[in-house]
Amino acid sequence: MNNAPFVFGKLATSVDFTDRETEVSQLTSNFKALVNTIILSPRRWGKTSLINRVSELLKLEDPNLKICHIDLFNVRTEVDFYILLATEILKATSTRWEEIIQNAKEFLVRFMPKISFSPDNQSEISFGISWDEMKKNPDEILDLAETIAIKRGLKIVIGIDEFQSIGDFENSLAFQKKLRSHWQRHTHVSYCLYGSKRHMLLDVFSNPSMPFYKFGDLILLEKISTKNWVHFIQRRFAETGKLIGGEEATLISNLAGNHSYYVQQLAQQSWFRTEKECAKSIVYESHEGIVDQLSLLFINITESLSTMQLNFLKAILSDEKQLSAQSTLQKYKLGTSANIGRLKQSLLAREIIDINADRIDFQDPIYKHWLKTRYFEKIQNLQ
Ligand SMILES: Nc1ncnc2c1ncn2[C@@H]1O[C@H](COP(=O)(O)OP(=O)(O)O)[C@@H](O)[C@H]1O
Ligand SMILES: [Mg+2]
Repeated sequence: MNNAPFVFGKLATSVDFTDRETEVSQLTSNFKALVNTIILSPRRWGKTSLINRVSELLKLEDPNLKICHIDLFNVRTEVDFYILLATEILKATSTRWEEIIQNAKEFLVRFMPKISFSPDNQSEISFGISWDEMKKNPDEILDLAETIAIKRGLKIVIGIDEFQSIGDFENSLAFQKKLRSHWQRHTHVSYCLYGSKRHMLLDVFSNPSMPFYKFGDLILLEKISTKNWVHFIQRRFAETGKLIGGEEATLISNLAGNHSYYVQQLAQQSWFRTEKECAKSIVYESHEGIVDQLSLLFINITESLSTMQLNFLKAILSDEKQLSAQSTLQKYKLGTSANIGRLKQSLLAREIIDINADRIDFQDPIYKHWLKTRYFEKIQNLQ
């Protein structure tokens, strides 16, 4: 058996998808009732897999509910955003290219839509008006989903992934105001906005002075529990004719810090090394293998950090709770207590740490392990 029963770096679907029952049912009812929703979690915990799961389920349930996915990962400007939004709405609400063309001509007259067919048969929509004009008057695009939904008797959910990207647009605040003022009037369309950089996005959605304040139901996605991972790992081993005990499966979940991507990766590596039954030594060996693979990347990250930032990480690794206490500041050479706030902010912005209900932890459990066992310990041995 060569096909490992674990996936990472791809969406988890069907048998590869586990847990998230509460979130699936909450999202399903929100989508059906057109309630705006916001989902936040650090990278690779499972946002995109979750939304994908919910849309797959709803597709079967209600053919008049259309779900449109937009990924802002590579979107840098307002105009790129409008073009992507228009294109994806047209695609999600049409089943054939003729229909897309017809809808584009009917609902976006001012934008002079054109469809071009490239040699590899990929069709693309482009617009005849200038970027300046589009930026000045994007109303038709911002209301496109609502217009189509009303005309065609549909309900539409627009999912926007990596939503934090809009924070980098020029005049982001004015842009956010514009989006909100249109979207809050829509009654046949709802929005599901999700992204990593929980900290930054929390500000966007829960700061009263921000345009998206109280825009919708806010879900802070948590990690999948150890209990669930153990069950999942044991099941997937069993389904492919191998075995793993409860303790070994728990070890996988623990070493991977319950981080969805890493649990899948470590389970896969352990599965590959297992002949019949997975032993703890195999799990440890697989874990070290993953740490090895990532070492170069971790060296680069570490070299880009300041001494003070590293000192701060060391204090977190040592489980220091009172970071601003005089003794901690002195022990780890962290300067004044005013520094702590700045250090937190800069490490949050770089997605190295995450703060959840005042608890600070590393976002990347493998980096945490590397820093502890291969970086700080080595330095200590040298001293
Ligand atoms: N519900 C889940 N069940 C099993 N594995 C999951 C689940 N959600 C995520 N994963 C694993 O985590 C990885 C990252 O998930 P993804 O949905 O891309 O996260 P995000 O969108 O938050 O960055 C996936 O490739 C998959 O291996
Ligand atoms: Mg994602």
